[in-house]
Amino acid sequence: EGDPIEFTVNGRPHRLRVPADAPLLGVLRNDLGLNGPKYGCGLGQCGACTVLLDGKVARACVIPVGAVAGRRVVTLEGLGSRDAMHPVQKAFVDAQAAQCGYCLNGMIMSTVALLSRQPRPTEAQVRDALSHNLCRCGTHLEILEAVRLAAE
Ligand code: FES
Repeated sequence: EGDPIEFTVNGRPHRLRVPADAPLLGVLRNDLGLNGPKYGCGLGQCGACTVLLDGKVARACVIPVGAVAGRRVVTLEGLGSRDAMHPVQKAFVDAQAAQCGYCLNGMIMSTVALLSRQPRPTEAQVRDALSHNLCRCGTHLEILEAVRLAAE
C-alpha cells in the first residue's frame, strides 16, 4: 500500500489507506459503509453502481480509487434521507418506479446528473441519459414517469 488517498464523499473529506487500484465501489461500500451504490455486473455495463464524480455520472465498479484522489464523489446517501428526500428520490417513490429496486439508486444518480445539466429534458434526452442503466424487471415506463415528475 502506498500513500493514503484523499477525496471527498458526500461533502466529507476522507483519507484512506487502501490500494490505489481497488475499485471505488468496494471502498465506498466496505470501507465507508455506503450501500447506495450497488454491485451489479462489476464490468461497467449495468449502472447499478453509478455515483457522481465531480458532478458527472461514473461507474464506481470500474474506477480505481486512486483515480478519485482530490475529487468529489456523491453517492445516493449524499442526496437526501428518508425524512428529507431529494426531489428526484421523491419523484421515484411517487411514481412507484421500483419493482425489485436494485437498479434504482443508479437510475436516480443518473437522473440527478441529467437534471443538473438539463432541467427540462425531452423524452429522448431522458432515454439517452438512462440508456446505460439497466433494469431487469422492465419498469422503464414508470422510471420515465418518475423523471418527468422530477423535472416538473
Ligand atoms: Fe458497475 Fe454494473 S456494477 S456498471
